[in-house]
Amino acid sequence: MHSDKSVKREHWGSKLGFILAAAGSAVGLGNIWKFPYIAGENGGAAFIFVYLICIAIIGLPVLIAEVLMGRTTQRNPVGAFRKLSNSPFWSAVGGLGVLAGFVILSFYAVVAGWSFGYIVEAIKGSFSSFTKVGASGDYFSSLTNNIVWIVGYLAVFMGLTMLIVYFGVQKGIERASKIMMPLLIIILLILMIRGLTLPGADKGLEFLLKPDWSHVTPQAILIALGHAFFTLSLGMGAMMTYGSYMSKDDNIPNAAFQIVILDTLIALIAGIAIFTAVFAMSENPAVGPGLIFHTLPVVFSKMAGGYIFAILFFILLTIAALTSAISLLEVVIAYFVDERGWQRHNAVITFGLVAFIVGIPSALSFNVMSDFTIFGLNFFDFVDFLASNILLPLGGLLISIFVAWVWGFDKALINLKYGAERLFDNHFWIIATWKVFIKYFAPVLIFLVLLNSIGIL
Ligand code: PHE
Repeated sequence: MHSDKSVKREHWGSKLGFILAAAGSAVGLGNIWKFPYIAGENGGAAFIFVYLICIAIIGLPVLIAEVLMGRTTQRNPVGAFRKLSNSPFWSAVGGLGVLAGFVILSFYAVVAGWSFGYIVEAIKGSFSSFTKVGASGDYFSSLTNNIVWIVGYLAVFMGLTMLIVYFGVQKGIERASKIMMPLLIIILLILMIRGLTLPGADKGLEFLLKPDWSHVTPQAILIALGHAFFTLSLGMGAMMTYGSYMSKDDNIPNAAFQIVILDTLIALIAGIAIFTAVFAMSENPAVGPGLIFHTLPVVFSKMAGGYIFAILFFILLTIAALTSAISLLEVVIAYFVDERGWQRHNAVITFGLVAFIVGIPSALSFNVMSDFTIFGLNFFDFVDFLASNILLPLGGLLISIFVAWVWGFDKALINLKYGAERLFDNHFWIIATWKVFIKYFAPVLIFLVLLNSIGIL
């Protein structure tokens, strides 16, 4: 195919550029919208403890494996698997990743669009009169029932994503990440300080820090494991694609560690910012997905300075979603550029538009298509379930098996060593641990998550 075309592959301008772009991919709706509510539903601190273990023993090892495959081959997921195995089966596994990226982008952009729309609502002051979650929930429904609102903001968000990816790796993705990630961290710290200084914040902290082990059910462990994948953007080749723009002298284990720490800290800080405020305003922490869009507007309306903090919060959420969405689109673009010989610009316009069109039924699931179900789920919930609960764990499982058993550790380690010579010489136990986790722990545990997703466990 076109994999060795004359156009030179772009690379990150700096190590920091890669770390910020990859952390940008990892930090998204998963950290700020999903993590707080699943922690809230599953008992807070005890769940967080289990989640941290999952991140360490599965998330970090699989992240290293993905970035390594990308850097070694300098290809998109399909090309990466093909180059290392020469097998149509494994190339198809890469194809599954590209498909997953596309599917996730289509519904992810719907929720990200709400977030963008909520910046506008916050500026208009729409939240100021809410005193009860019921009223705020009704307002949310009135917005999502409005087809023009929901499809309009989907289009706006997809347009922004396309705009960034259009400019390429360095001038688009890297530059955007270098601006947006520091901004995200600053806003998050402001919100955390606001939360911590509210009277009654200690109850929120206690909820996050004092474990109640009775909540740690097998189900909660599987949720934590599944989320570890989603939050680190694993299992579909986003990190592989970003790794493919790396050069050989970067230290992969080190970079992966920094990405994991950033992702985890940001999820925890978001949890602190949100739960201190929720408890201080005597709201319920365990309301599920509505925590951000129903509960928080009420929290802001009751809080001194809430007008500004509401605007900041939804800017934060939108930035986080945007740096993730560009990594999803980039997987698709890299595939069409590397394998099919497309021009980046044409690919971005074409597949951004297609992702927007595929996103429309997800958007309509909240209004005119709410009665349309597949396996008992509406379209949005179905594609979310398919991607997050089936495709990502399946991808992660196959990637671990591939690196451990097909490509083989000898070859993997030769490539991992580039840029990490000191780590290999001085702390080889870290590398040895990575091997054991990828070979045994990851496949077995991920397999359990999959069985759970399809209802066998
Ligand atoms: N990691 C992103 C989040 O936490 C979601 C994502 C998944 C992005 C897979 C890219 C690939 O929101």
